[in-house]
Amino acid sequence: MQHLLSAADLDRGQVTEIMDLAEEMALVQSRPVKKLPALRGRTVVNLFFEDSTRTRSSFELAGKWLSADVINISAKGSSVSKGESLRDTVLTVAAMGVDALVIRHHASGAPWQATRWFAEAGVPVHVLNAGDGTHEHPTQALLDAFTMRRHFGLGLGQSNFAGRKVAVVGDITHSRVARSNVLLLATLGADVTVVAPPTLLPAGIDSWPVSVTSDLDGVLPEVDVVMMLRVQRERMSGGYFPTAREYTVGYGLTRERLCALRPGAAICHPGPMNRGLEISADAADAASSLILDQVSAGVAVRMSVLYQLLGGAE
Ligand code: NCD
Repeated sequence: MQHLLSAADLDRGQVTEIMDLAEEMALVQSRPVKKLPALRGRTVVNLFFEDSTRTRSSFELAGKWLSADVINISAKGSSVSKGESLRDTVLTVAAMGVDALVIRHHASGAPWQATRWFAEAGVPVHVLNAGDGTHEHPTQALLDAFTMRRHFGLGLGQSNFAGRKVAVVGDITHSRVARSNVLLLATLGADVTVVAPPTLLPAGIDSWPVSVTSDLDGVLPEVDVVMMLRVQRERMSGGYFPTAREYTVGYGLTRERLCALRPGAAICHPGPMNRGLEISADAADAASSLILDQVSAGVAVRMSVLYQLLGGAE
């Protein structure tokens, strides 16, 4: 693997390998001394043009716990705010001799563009997509799959999700998490239903490997995992739903709706959450909520991915 840009880059064998190694990394994560020498002497740059808490800090911890040198650059405070182009910024970072670039950008396709510029310039930098616009977020899908695999009681070497029902609910149009999850869950054989108001379904949804509905109450009693998505107001220009209250009534995981879930069904959310809008506090903090498990899995999975891309070079 040279880059990780899309969840579709990975076949089932590769996903299984990443999840298996992440299980080993999770052991390191729970030790008092969290350090492996695996990426000593390697350098990772986190280049973030959009806000982030979980993704940026978990990539940083993942790199550090593997002994890589990690630096963070955000658009605010860098020459981007002086008008520097994306091309100049990524080539400048690469010219310093870094090994991997973890990039989050508001433009869909930006990480692919970075790989082309690196190829043209002949610099061997690995690129990891940490979220590009409304397009993809492959490490989020991997950490979600890892969390679900544990929830399903599947162990090392196992990644067959056939017969497992997952509902992805909410603002599908603006969600790179939804796109990457749908691709990865299809690779693992899960049965995915997308639930959203028609205004928050993207064009082309018919070609996705999912069932589509706007009836959340019809779906909840069936699912093994319900993944709630944040309503991404910052990407909305018009009125996608009448009021927040109406959105919650139709598509929120409210306290009342919790009773509709089967015993053993799990609740996921990639975060950050709008409590009271797409998810109630009762649901977010329920015993069946895996939301903080997803956060922990983020570090282990990113350690695994960084190791797969950068490890073993020496
Ligand atoms: C998501 C993102 O940035 O795409 N968050 C994350 O990475 N955990 C989802 C979101 O912003 O709603």
